[in-house]
Amino acid sequence: MTLAGKHILLIVGGGIAAFKALDLVRRLRERGAVVTPVLTRAGSEFVTELSLSSLAGCRVYSDLWDLTDEAEMGHIQLSRAADLIVVAPATANLMANMASGHAHDLATTLLLATDTPVLIAPAMNVRMWEYPATRRNLAVLQGDGIAVVGPNEGDMACGEYGPGRMAEPLEIVDAIAARLASGPLAGRHVIVTSGPTHEPIDPVRYIANRSSGAQGSALGAALRDLGATVTFVTGPASVAPPEGVTLVRVETAAEMLAAVRAALPADAAIFAAAVADWRVGTAATQKLKKGPGGHSTLDLAENPDILASVARMGEGRPALVVGFAAETENVLEHARAKRLRKGCDWILANDVSPGTGIMGGTENALTLVTQDGSEDWPRDTKIALARKLARRIADHLGARGA
Ligand code: CTP
Repeated sequence: MTLAGKHILLIVGGGIAAFKALDLVRRLRERGAVVTPVLTRAGSEFVTELSLSSLAGCRVYSDLWDLTDEAEMGHIQLSRAADLIVVAPATANLMANMASGHAHDLATTLLLATDTPVLIAPAMNVRMWEYPATRRNLAVLQGDGIAVVGPNEGDMACGEYGPGRMAEPLEIVDAIAARLASGPLAGRHVIVTSGPTHEPIDPVRYIANRSSGAQGSALGAALRDLGATVTFVTGPASVAPPEGVTLVRVETAAEMLAAVRAALPADAAIFAAAVADWRVGTAATQKLKKGPGGHSTLDLAENPDILASVARMGEGRPALVVGFAAETENVLEHARAKRLRKGCDWILANDVSPGTGIMGGTENALTLVTQDGSEDWPRDTKIALARKLARRIADHLGARGA
C-alpha cells in the first residue's frame, strides 16, 4: 500500500532497537511518506541525528527548549501536522511516561499535546515487557486508543529470549498503513482469535483441533481493509496471519484467553479459533513411554471457554461478541443453543463434516444466527464470506454509534 502524501512523525526512543528505526525511515520514504524524526536524548545514545536526518531528508527535532523551533514550528504544530505519530522503539520508560501523562522532553510533550493517532512499537527486555507495571501501562495506552505493533518473540540483544524485540520495520510499515486506513471501521479495535490451540501432553505431543486458520486470517484481513485496528490472536495455524494487524501468537487455550484479555478493550471480538476443549491436567515433563508400565489414559481438564468469558463479562464487554459454531449435525439447532449458552450476540454456524471439504479448504458456507433469527450465507470462498461478515460488523457498530 502506498503512503504517498502521508506525514509520519517518528519518535525514536532509547533502546538498542533504535537502529531499526533507521531502516523504518527508509521503508516509509520508499512508500512515499514524509517522515519527520524526533530523537529522544536516550535515543541519541544509539543513533545519531546525522544518520536520521540523512535518511529522512529533513532535520531532526530533539530539544523542547529550542526557541527557534518554537517560533518556527511549535511542538503542538509539529505533532498536529502529522497524520500519525509513531514511537519506535517505544521503551518501557516512554510507555510509562505516556500512560501517566508526563511531559518532560520534546517527545513526551508532543505525545501529550496531540490529537493525532499514535502507534507504538514496544521494544524492551522480556522481563520488563512482562512486568505488571508495563502490562498496566500497555492496557492504559490501548484504552486511550493507541495502536500497538509487536513486540515479537526471539533472541534479545541482552542475551535473553522471549517477547520484547521490536517489530521488524516492514511489520511497522504495515501497521502504519493499517492505522492510516480509512473506512467504516477506522478507529475501531477488533479482536480476532484464529487457528487451533495445542495443549501439551508431554514435551513432544499435544491435543489439538483441526483448523487451518484460513477463515480467521481472511476475517482479520477483511476487518483491516475496512480500517479496523485488529488484534489477531492465533494458535499454531498453517495459513499465514494477515499483515497489518497486531499479531499475538499463542499455543494453548489458557494463553489465548490471557492474550484476549490483555488486548481488551475492543469494539468487537470475533472468536474464529478452534480451541481445544480439553487439556491434560498435568502435562508430563518428560516424554511418555509406551510398553509395559506406560501410560494408557490421560487425565483431562476442561479448558476455559474464551468466547463465553468475554461474552459474559460485565463492564468492558465489547459491543459486539461473535462466535463460530463448528458442527457436524443439526447445525442450526446446535448454533442457536450455543449462542444462548455462551451469551454472545452472533454465532456463525458451519457444517464441518468431512464430506463438505470446508475444514482445511478455501470455501465455507455459513448461517448467521442472531437474536432476530438466522440467515444462510451460501457457499463461497472464505475470503468473500469474511468480507461479508466484516461489512456486517461495520454496519452494526456504525448503527449503534458504539
Ligand atoms: N470457543 C472458545 N473457547 C473454548 C471453546 C470454544 O472461545 N474453550 C469458541 C470458539 O472460538 C467458537 C465457539 O466458542 O467461536 C464455539 O466453538 P465450538 O468448538 O463450535 O463449540 P464448543 O464450545 O467446543 O462446544 P461443543 O464442543 O459442544 O460443540
